[in-house]
Amino acid sequence: MNQRRTDVGWRLDLADIRAALRPRTRSLFLNSPCNPTGWVIPAEQQAELLELCRQQNILLIADEVYHRSVYEGDVAPSFMTLARDDDPVIVVSGFSKAWAMTGWRIGWVVAPSRHAETWAILSECFNTGATVFVQQAAITALERGEETVARLRDQYAGGRAIVTEVLGRCPRIELTEPQGAFYAFPRVRGLTSSLAFAEGVLAEEDVGIAPGYTFGPGNEEHFRLCFAHSHEALREGLERIVRYIERHDNEFDSV
Ligand SMILES: Cc1ncc(COP(=O)(O)O)c(C=O)c1O
Repeated sequence: MNQRRTDVGWRLDLADIRAALRPRTRSLFLNSPCNPTGWVIPAEQQAELLELCRQQNILLIADEVYHRSVYEGDVAPSFMTLARDDDPVIVVSGFSKAWAMTGWRIGWVVAPSRHAETWAILSECFNTGATVFVQQAAITALERGEETVARLRDQYAGGRAIVTEVLGRCPRIELTEPQGAFYAFPRVRGLTSSLAFAEGVLAEEDVGIAPGYTFGPGNEEHFRLCFAHSHEALREGLERIVRYIERHDNEFDSV
């Protein structure tokens, strides 16, 4: 389910979810903090969503991989603190983001105990084989990684400030400040093809961004950028994006 862009930022409308449910709906997938928007679900809304899933017996799959990457407080609201063992909730998370272990292929799933046997079978088929050195790295991350989590979060917070500053100078760009994760999902007003835009920025400015359309309908004016780079590279990349927009300004629709 996509969030909606509103005047007050990204928001998930539970009425949209209710309207999208069908008699055969079995599960609902939610990612917060969100890739690509940086939206973070408020705790009260989590409680409402959980109640809806309880009532309708819909399995809520919560991807909380950016749980530690938030810019207010220490952790994002988590279904882990709300769900009871018999609730239809599965929480998926991992080491990729908070400990910068992307590609190490290690994470975890927390599911109701009645699912244990099914998970054991799935695990046997799909994801056994976390190598020993990666398991040791994960143990080290849990035992001694808090400083790293905090340092990375500070770096991302600094990156977010650079995004806001540089993109804020471009009148064609509308930005909702991300509350979590390390992505921004700016709108380029008047853009008609997010793919052509991303290709153009890559070809002319050597900067890689993700076109909005890949994140679902209604995102053609958007692009996603990642601000987990060094601050120097990030600033340079953002300035090139703005330069590209200024150079092509007459090609956008007037709004
Ligand atoms: C929302 C979300 N979930 C999961 C992942 C993947 O994490 P992993 O590297 O553990 O496969 C990503 C990575 O980009 C992500 O954005």
